[in-house]
Amino acid sequence: MKTNREKKTPLYFQLKEHIKRQIEEKELKPGQCLPSENDLCQEFGISRMTVRQAINELQYEGLLYKIQGKGTFVSKDKIEQSLISLTSFSNDMRNRGLAPGSKILAFEVISATAKLSEALRINSGDKVIFLKRLRMADNEPMSIESSYLNYYLCSPLLDIPIDNISLYDVLKQELGLKLVKAAQSLETFLICGWEAGLLEVPENSLGLFIKRTTYTEDNKPLEYVESIYRGDRYKFYIEMKGV
Ligand code: GLP
Repeated sequence: MKTNREKKTPLYFQLKEHIKRQIEEKELKPGQCLPSENDLCQEFGISRMTVRQAINELQYEGLLYKIQGKGTFVSKDKIEQSLISLTSFSNDMRNRGLAPGSKILAFEVISATAKLSEALRINSGDKVIFLKRLRMADNEPMSIESSYLNYYLCSPLLDIPIDNISLYDVLKQELGLKLVKAAQSLETFLICGWEAGLLEVPENSLGLFIKRTTYTEDNKPLEYVESIYRGDRYKFYIEMKGV
């Protein structure tokens, strides 16, 4: 490709679209190193600043990542997550041939704040089981999940070794609870500080903030979860029916 100065689209954007197309067409494959900034300048007859702008934007969009001193690489394909079924992280990863794992960041009994009492439909100050986990797939950090569980429904969980379990499997198989439905919301989120370090993403990377309330029979909220997902590793989809 040659950049075209007659076009209305800026030069950096033309290069960005060109690299994007190469990624889509698998001419550039996940893990592959991009040509150096110098090579791109020469190949496309554009300045270093223009090349950098294209690469930086693709990095923000999660299509490229940089390794200090090594170069710029093509990101892995995103995990496509359907929003229709009430599935667990472990199942979702296994279905993709990835090994699910967790690092426990907190596991304790706390008192319900006003927010938790509303989400779990319990009284303020009631006991809640708080489980915070870094979720991994093939040892790569994917999300941070903070789960708040109804203590009276889930207290046997406190006696179960929690490392690397599937919470949903335990709730269903060992506690005999039925996960009947869930309500979920998604918002964009900037990942920074401690959480960026845990997720191994640069400061201020785009992420998704997801809240889920899961209900057992009789419409009782069983868990309320706040999760941060890496924006560079996930995309969500839903099928819609015409009305
Ligand atoms: C998903 C949901 C969480 C749920 C978790 C259970 O990630 N967003 O709300 O707590 O799955 O996963 P697992 O059964 O693997 O522990």
